[in-house]
Amino acid sequence: MPKLKLAVFISGSGSNLQAIIDAITKGKLKAEIAVVVSNRKGAFGLTRAEEAGIPTRYFPFKPYRDTGKSREAYDADLVELVKPFQPDLVVLAGWMYVLSPDFLNHFPHQVINLHPALPGTFAGVDGIGRTFKAWQRGEVPHGGCMVHYTVPEVDAGPVIAQAIVPIKTDDTLATFENRMHAAEHQLIVKAIGLICDRQ
Ligand code: GRF
Repeated sequence: MPKLKLAVFISGSGSNLQAIIDAITKGKLKAEIAVVVSNRKGAFGLTRAEEAGIPTRYFPFKPYRDTGKSREAYDADLVELVKPFQPDLVVLAGWMYVLSPDFLNHFPHQVINLHPALPGTFAGVDGIGRTFKAWQRGEVPHGGCMVHYTVPEVDAGPVIAQAIVPIKTDDTLATFENRMHAAEHQLIVKAIGLICDRQ
């Protein structure tokens, strides 16, 4: 059974990337990370990848914006950057940039995204903070996270795996956030494992 080849996209600390790296190292995932792409130079996830000996690419949108180039141009060049690595799956793990159909159409049903909220709730940025505020207002009983196939609509698309994340009465945003990230680290590995098993 060949290993699933992953391209992991990040924008931040890369703790979900680290969860994938650790699961592979422990033999829990029949996968390999061919490349880690970040749109932010300071993303600690780039350091995590380098320490794991994984090729990295820094690919910011700003030069395109500053020279009046379009998001479509960026996405098309991002496709050209990623294609040589021939990924079976593109994993958006804390990737804070909305990919257009120009990118998604080159990787049909091969792009998955992790989002710190349940399907149909709190799409977009700061899902964790918005969930916590809604809980404080008594509007939601708990939080959650999901991994889904990426479609042009932000944080929507067929769900691969999801998990409830409880909120406790004495929680602060920070304690809830820690519980959320721990749940995400498990969920992203579970979701990739489910896809590996379908190979
Ligand atoms: C995660 O909470 C993810 O759901 C959100 O950004 C965070 C990324 O964390 N989009 P990390 O960079 O993987 O540590």
